Amino acid sequence: MDLHILDHRLRVTSISKNGLVNFTHPLIKLIFLRNRTRCEFFSLTETPENYTVVLDEEGFKELQPSEHLQVESSIWLPLNVVSNGNASSSSQAVGVTKIAKSVIAPLAQQHVSVFMLSTYQTDFILVREKDLSVVVTTLEEEFNIYKEVGGESVPVHCQDVSNGLQKNGKEAIQPTVHPVLIPQNQFCVMSLDPDTLPSIATTLIDVLFYSNSPKEDTQSSPSRDCIKFFSFSLIDGYISLVMDTEAQRQFPADLLFTSSSGELWRMVRIGGQPLGFDECGIVAQISQPLADSDISAYYISTFSFDHALVPEEDIVSVTGMLQHQRKEPAT
Ligand code: ARG
Repeated sequence: MDLHILDHRLRVTSISKNGLVNFTHPLIKLIFLRNRTRCEFFSLTETPENYTVVLDEEGFKELQPSEHLQVESSIWLPLNVVSNGNASSSSQAVGVTKIAKSVIAPLAQQHVSVFMLSTYQTDFILVREKDLSVVVTTLEEEFNIYKEVGGESVPVHCQDVSNGLQKNGKEAIQPTVHPVLIPQNQFCVMSLDPDTLPSIATTLIDVLFYSNSPKEDTQSSPSRDCIKFFSFSLIDGYISLVMDTEAQRQFPADLLFTSSSGELWRMVRIGGQPLGFDECGIVAQISQPLADSDISAYYISTFSFDHALVPEEDIVSVTGMLQHQRKEPAT
């Protein structure tokens, strides 16, 4: 298996709900006017707390400093696992489940904090640039590691930087078990041909920028047990959308596509208080048991909380698993 360190230097930011009006202009440019920016990695996720924007340095330049913009101080690098077709695993599971044991768990054991961003196409594991040597040392046993430099993949080896490696990582600190929330919405994970983006522009603008304004023509109020969650990403020319079925109904049915099985997903939101960026092992704690049961999962970290999406038919067993974990923390 190959692991690619992508050629993007990312910032993780959040825009406050009230501050969104100050950023609509750059966001419209980043979403719709690709030929006007050199941004190649852009992701915007609306949650009840704020808007999380993860973007490369080119894109970051478009965001003016403001009291409404919070910026995590580190540079993050996206990693991406590419399986080179050899069906070494019998697992049918998709998403973060596939990389739980090979990437997520080893990094957590080495106390590397990650920030996850699953998309329709792939799962990006963001790590801090300063942790890169530990990351390479930890993962080079399992993977051929390549760094992408100007479109070329260059093999990376660790110049024997074994410093910082925790040999007995397993005995390390007990991870905190965070409270979880399981909202009632059903989600879909979809994609779109970038050339047809203009055809959904008005809907996307409505959903992204006006979702909190009351609609003139409907009285429907969102159910109390549902959560606001909408994610759009445009990464290296690929679009991915995560939205609930309520939002999906607003889009023309023929343009967005989902995997052939067209499954629906339920969300597990992780965290009671904002999780911060330094704690490690949160993704590991959730993805490990999912991998053990071979349950697919997408995983989206935002500025404040983490979000796992699991197939709706598995939500009952996942809930049971999480409850169990909370009663008797893993040893
Ligand atoms: N750093 C956490 C981990 O390594 C995941 C990210 C949590 N923080 C957040 N702001 N979403 O498991």
